Amino acid sequence: MNQVDYLRISLIDRCNFRCQYCMPSGVELDYILRQQLLTDEELLLLLREVFIPVGFTRFRLTGGEPLLRPGVVELVKAIASLPETQDLSMTTNGFLLAAKAQELYNAGLRRINISLDSLNPETFDKIIGDRVHSRWQQVWQGIQAAHQVGFDPLKLNVVIIPGVNDQEVLDLAALTIDRQWHVRFIEFMPIGNDSLFGSKGWVDSAQLRDRIRQAFGLETSQVRGNGPADIFQIPSAQGTLGFISQMSECFCDRCNRMRLSADGWLRPCLLNENGQIDLKARLRAGVALAELREQVRQLLVIKPEINFKQRDSGTTGNYTRTMSQIGG
Ligand code: GTP
Ligand code: 5AD
Ligand code: SF4
Repeated sequence: MNQVDYLRISLIDRCNFRCQYCMPSGVELDYILRQQLLTDEELLLLLREVFIPVGFTRFRLTGGEPLLRPGVVELVKAIASLPETQDLSMTTNGFLLAAKAQELYNAGLRRINISLDSLNPETFDKIIGDRVHSRWQQVWQGIQAAHQVGFDPLKLNVVIIPGVNDQEVLDLAALTIDRQWHVRFIEFMPIGNDSLFGSKGWVDSAQLRDRIRQAFGLETSQVRGNGPADIFQIPSAQGTLGFISQMSECFCDRCNRMRLSADGWLRPCLLNENGQIDLKARLRAGVALAELREQVRQLLVIKPEINFKQRDSGTTGNYTRTMSQIGG
């Protein structure tokens, strides 16, 4: 059985973008009220007394947009300083990154994944929700800043939406030729975006690989990831190409992660709402930490049964939380 040692921690459900696939327009979102968010102290207590003792050593901070969390740099520092932390990373939309990259690095963050769905500012703005002012430039500056500060690896996440950005696959893949970046193509998932998904669907990673292979060549990479991405490389390129294919392939059997929402729900599987437990409610009700550890241990035991294995049997409409609320 796979060791589950990786916790994705959503710091806040709010976001300064509104990506169609994550927070679709027309969907009214009830943001988590401040008093319902896990506080820094509660989060650190859960890490020290519950998650680390049951075997979690790798942590990823997500959102919404994690850089909107007040005091995020201090929190990074606190988590990075836990002696058991073996890996600390963040997934961000990059909009606030130019200003924060150095501070985050100094606080102990070393790995960062940035969403970049298009190299074309117009397409980009359309995906993130038709803003009046273009945001692409500022995100690109955020990526450059992260690169200059020394984040390594630096990963760019591209969700491919048929008919919207699939024409850019070669341009995005070509970013890795001269740069040591990792560009990852993610199959579009039907979470919290019924209408958009219903009309668009996803593009198989295998199809994207064929296109890239024809244009540049493609070989499997020596680089090993620790997540669901299959890693390839354009021959002699400096960076790599990752493919996250949760719609066309099943990687549930090698799933190594759980998710903690900003309001303290622990979720064993991204694509299945079964088995979630409300750790914050238990903590605030005074449940003993030993009891919480036991409950999380039990969840680890039953996780293989919960892991989602039926992506093809029709899943739209089954989710009560959007990706922005789960943290990707
Ligand atoms: P690394 O540790 O750097 O490899 O990161 P990661 O790929 O785990 O993290 P990231 O936040 O960049 O995740 C990218 C996307 O991969 C997520 O937003 C999801 O779309 C998808 N993904 C990550 N983990 C899972 C998972 O457990 N199940 C499914 N179905 N998709 C996942
Ligand atoms: N399908 C696939 N990936 C998604 N993300 C958000 N919503 C979806 C979806 N419906 C990805 C973003 C980001 C990460 C946090 O989650 O691209 O990289
Ligand atoms: Fe915000 Fe990320 Fe969701 Fe886009 S994908 S709306 S940037 S949380």
